[in-house]
Order: sequence, then C-alpha cells, then structure tokens
Amino acid sequence: MPEVIIVEDADQAGQLVARRIADAIAARPNFVLGVATGSTPLTTYQALAEIATREQLPLDRVQAFALDEYVGLPEDHSESYAKVVDREVAERLGLAPGNVHVPSGTAADAEAGTAYEAAIREAGGIDLQLLGIGSSGHIGFNEPGSPFDSRTRVVELIDQTRHDNARFFPSVDDVPTHAITQGIGTILEARQLVLLAFGERKAAAVAAALQGPVTEAMPASVLHRHPSALVVIDRAAASKLED
Ligand code: F6R
Repeated sequence: MPEVIIVEDADQAGQLVARRIADAIAARPNFVLGVATGSTPLTTYQALAEIATREQLPLDRVQAFALDEYVGLPEDHSESYAKVVDREVAERLGLAPGNVHVPSGTAADAEAGTAYEAAIREAGGIDLQLLGIGSSGHIGFNEPGSPFDSRTRVVELIDQTRHDNARFFPSVDDVPTHAITQGIGTILEARQLVLLAFGERKAAAVAAALQGPVTEAMPASVLHRHPSALVVIDRAAASKLED
C-alpha cells in the first residue's frame, strides 16, 4: 500500500513535496526529477522555486523529464507540454535548457518513444516522478486498459480526458486527440513515485486506485506495485476513501 498523507489544501501539499525534493537535491546535485503537467503540481513547483532561492539549492546539474506531450500541437503552442514545462518548471527553477526533456509531439512515433527512454536511461533513471491522476484514473496519459508493462508510446486520449483538459484550450475540439506518454512500465522504474490529487473531482479515482483491485482498468492502482510510492491528497480528494 502506498503511504498516504492527507493535507488541508494544495498549498500545504506543495510545501511538503517541495521540501522532500529540495532535501533530495541537496543530497544529490545530479537529481533527476520526473515532472507532471496540468494544474495539480503547480503549488509544488512554486514552493520548490521559493525554497531553491531561499536556500540556494544547487540546480545546475538537476535534470527534468516530462511525463508526456500532446501530439500535433505546434512546438511553440502555449499549451504544448514543452512550453508548460519551460514556463512552470525550467524558468522558475532556472534549469539549464539542455537538462529539460519532453517527448517529441511533432515527430511522435515509435522512434520518439525509444529515444525518450534512452535519454532517461542515460540520465541514470528518474529519482522521483511526480504524478497527477486523471478523473479516468490515468497516470501520464496511460488511460484505463494501458498495459502495466507499457513503454513510452503514442496513445489516443479518451473523451473524458479531452473534456477535462478543454479548460486549457478555446474548445474541446481544439484538444489534441493523441499524446506521447511514458508508459506505466517506464513510470514504475522511477525510484520514487509521488502522486498528488486535489478536489472532489478526483475522489472516485483516488478511492478506486488506493482501495480497489490492482488492475489495468485503473492505471493508478499500479502504485501498489511500487516499493516507494507516496500519495498526497487533500480532504476532498480523500472523501471517498473508506476507513
Ligand atoms: C500531465 C499528466 C496527467 C495529469 C492528470 C491530472 O502531465 O500526465 O496525468 O497529471 O490528467 O491533470 P490535472 O492536474 O490538470 O488535474
């Protein structure tokens, strides 16, 4: 069972997780951080940037690897995950551009997946992978039914996910239909997983992932198979957990 910490709100979660990441970076300056995009990890990035400035964390050798990228958006689109990771992570933390990696959504094919996996290996593997959870239970863009041994590849987004992400685009029709994502097998190789979830909208998926069967039908349930998984959620996201 993953360790579960219930916090008051996203800010408290951000402080807690950022503190752990900062301590890990201080101990290992070539730390490799797996980053998620979307709304959930933003307070963590904010808190980490504040700690980094205050404590003058050595960030010049830190590398970041994104979980996923939309397929088909122009590279300079403001909602491409390359741009989001630049804006929310790299610029805030002052990471060297060459140390920030996002799978290619413009040349997204089997080769792009293999190249991304090779880059992760070359960096020595991911030390800590931040994860959000979709209302579908997805991690990365591994929708229900994704094999637990899947690797970085192009996937089709389900309608539920496209509707959930429509808030970042003019309309749901503008949300890409496909993405390239680290596979569940890839994610499981990170040395530590930290899943964050906030709000009522995530409560059903959180309960199914933590207290339901471990099944490919609920991708986040695979956290039970990881030796070092932490789940940090607010009360609303925890509201469907049973004692
Ligand atoms: C993002 C990602 C997704 C999101 C999930 C939750 O890189 O891989 O799994 O973490 O869709 O998104 P938010 O945080 O926007 O609710």
